[in-house]
Amino acid sequence: MSKVIEILMNEHKEIVKFVENLKLMCLDFINHNKIDIEEFRKSVHFIKTYADERHHQKEEQILFKSMVEHLGVRAENIIKYGMLIEHDLARYHVNGLNEAVNKYKKEPSDENKLEILTHALSYCDLLLRHAYKEDNVVYPFGEKNLPKEELERLDILAEEYEQKYKQ
Ligand SMILES: [Fe+2]
Ligand SMILES: [Fe+2]
Repeated sequence: MSKVIEILMNEHKEIVKFVENLKLMCLDFINHNKIDIEEFRKSVHFIKTYADERHHQKEEQILFKSMVEHLGVRAENIIKYGMLIEHDLARYHVNGLNEAVNKYKKEPSDENKLEILTHALSYCDLLLRHAYKEDNVVYPFGEKNLPKEELERLDILAEEYEQKYKQ
């Protein structure tokens, strides 16, 4: 497996673990009607810094950019009208979750509770399906069809992108 795909798939494992935990936090909120605001804020932070900035933006700037440039209309359709739209939808839900947590802190109403659960669980459902599609369809399509030298170039770019997280 090429390095760039290996890095991205390992990040999916971290994101899926995070999502499973966020689902448990939501269940706990449903069952006990109270939340740890700080834990939800940490979740928002993880989504913005890890799932989005480190992972989705690396896909967008490196692998997906190259697939759109080299692999024609099929790649363009699956990426521009599939994956990138889902990245934007994920951003919508994390911003919604952030606002809902702030509102709930000021006013712990049922309506604000519902808003937290709606955004958090929508994010969870979206990300699980999204990562599955990438692992099983999008990445294998890229790895199978991109020229070997191009994959090697992407490996280097992905390693460079990772450097800023390794200090
Ligand atoms: Fe993605
Ligand atoms: Fe991904």
